[in-house]
Amino acid sequence: MNIDRFLSRIGYIGNTEPSLEVLAALQQSFLLTIPFENLDIHRGIKLDFSEAAVYEKLVMQRRGGVCYENNGLFHDALKALGFEVEFIAAVMFPKVGVTVRNDHMALLVRVEGKQYLVDVGNGKAFGDPVPLKSDHISLSENVSYRVAAFDEKRLALFSRDLNSDDSEWLPRYAFTADPVSREDFLEACEYIETSPDSVFTRSRIVSLLTSDGRITLSQRMTSESDEVKQDQSEIVLTTTVADQATTEVITQEEERELLAVQFGLVLSEKANANESVLVLNSSILGKNSSSNKLTEHYIRAWQKFHPHGKAIVRDLTVNPVPSLKPESFAAWSAPADERSGEQQYLADKSNELIDQVKACDTLVVAAPMYNFSVPVELKNAQDNMARVGITFRYTEQGPEGLLGKGKQVIVVHTRGGQFQGTPEDGITPMFDSYFRMLGFEHIKHVWAEGLSLGEETAAAAMGAAAAELTLLAA
Ligand SMILES: Cc1cc2nc3c(=O)[nH]c(=O)nc-3n(C[C@H](O)[C@H](O)[C@H](O)COP(=O)(O)O)c2cc1C
Repeated sequence: MNIDRFLSRIGYIGNTEPSLEVLAALQQSFLLTIPFENLDIHRGIKLDFSEAAVYEKLVMQRRGGVCYENNGLFHDALKALGFEVEFIAAVMFPKVGVTVRNDHMALLVRVEGKQYLVDVGNGKAFGDPVPLKSDHISLSENVSYRVAAFDEKRLALFSRDLNSDDSEWLPRYAFTADPVSREDFLEACEYIETSPDSVFTRSRIVSLLTSDGRITLSQRMTSESDEVKQDQSEIVLTTTVADQATTEVITQEEERELLAVQFGLVLSEKANANESVLVLNSSILGKNSSSNKLTEHYIRAWQKFHPHGKAIVRDLTVNPVPSLKPESFAAWSAPADERSGEQQYLADKSNELIDQVKACDTLVVAAPMYNFSVPVELKNAQDNMARVGITFRYTEQGPEGLLGKGKQVIVVHTRGGQFQGTPEDGITPMFDSYFRMLGFEHIKHVWAEGLSLGEETAAAAMGAAAAELTLLAA
């Protein structure tokens, strides 16, 4: 566990010396950043809540998890910070379907001479440590919580919903304060992720505490044995602000966007892979360049979603490729041992750029508009990437792209005026044709236009383009 990475993942800055105050602050930060979510169960990915696996998934891949994962990670982090922390096993109420032992994992922390119940894996739940032996009442999201005796042997977390007229204290889960190990939850985890009776296999859920409430995405799954009506299988977004909940049904496309933007979750299979991005910048404006700012924004967002990925930024004004010359074609086609010095240089420069593009999964091309065209450095890069027999070939059916197979390209247009969608925008269709010819499978464009039309217009255009790039990075 790299504890600094964990603290950065939960956005915690400050003292980490074990104390009740620090424990409460860490719990809040965790709840505000790492969602409770069971999406992997519905993606057929087996849960693994070993120490290494939860660190990789929740910290490195910036995902959330179920109780075994969220509390597993919080346990490991608290231990690394020097807290006395143990796992405890709980039984949830009300029972849904078949019961298993230890169906809920929570934490017991001893700090400043007292034992506290701590939980960051229970969806909507208490937000600060609750002392075991005390009349203390914790209030979170308009629900009161306290720990009291459940039966002769067990304690329970009780909750009382202040939103409802029914002000009874109801048991949320019962537990003993005896420490258990991670392995003691294996059977329960197997059950919750496989049994058709488990609420986790029947409902998809993602829920996160926010500064003024909570956001929850849920989808009840229909199954043959289920009498759930079709409309209940819709994806529903519930937003609670100042204890007022509103719900809306959303589309799958909106869900993907919400998961990325509001919950910071990326589910693409590629998020696990060692993907790579190549950015080609070409502005002459250096630090004042709008396209450089946007590609930098993309890289920052992309790195957040692809912590193991590799990003290469090449500024073509600093590290250019030569313009086409009479020697270029001879240089590219001559056998290596027959090239002149200049031909070798021209071939090396072109090959180097092509190799960089071949090695990436996503190519990001900054395309500032200069005099209704693109900077000459970008044009030179285009010319050096288009090589018959190497990056595309002619067939009887027309040109066949070889360079872009399995890759996507994102062209980031920055312009003083506004041309997108008008006949004056010759650049967008040109890049479409060019990258199609090279075989790129996904060609995306992002435009920031009207950058010379006043500060407000420019700021709005840059903001919208940055938001679009964040989505493309996810
Ligand atoms: C030399 C030059 C030529 C330009 N020509 C155009 C143009 O033809 N049409 C336009 O809308 N904006 C034009 N602009 C404005 C740029 O498109 C705008 O400044 C944009 O931000 C450039 O991207 P960059 O900041 O990344 O360099 C030009 C800017 C420069 C420096």
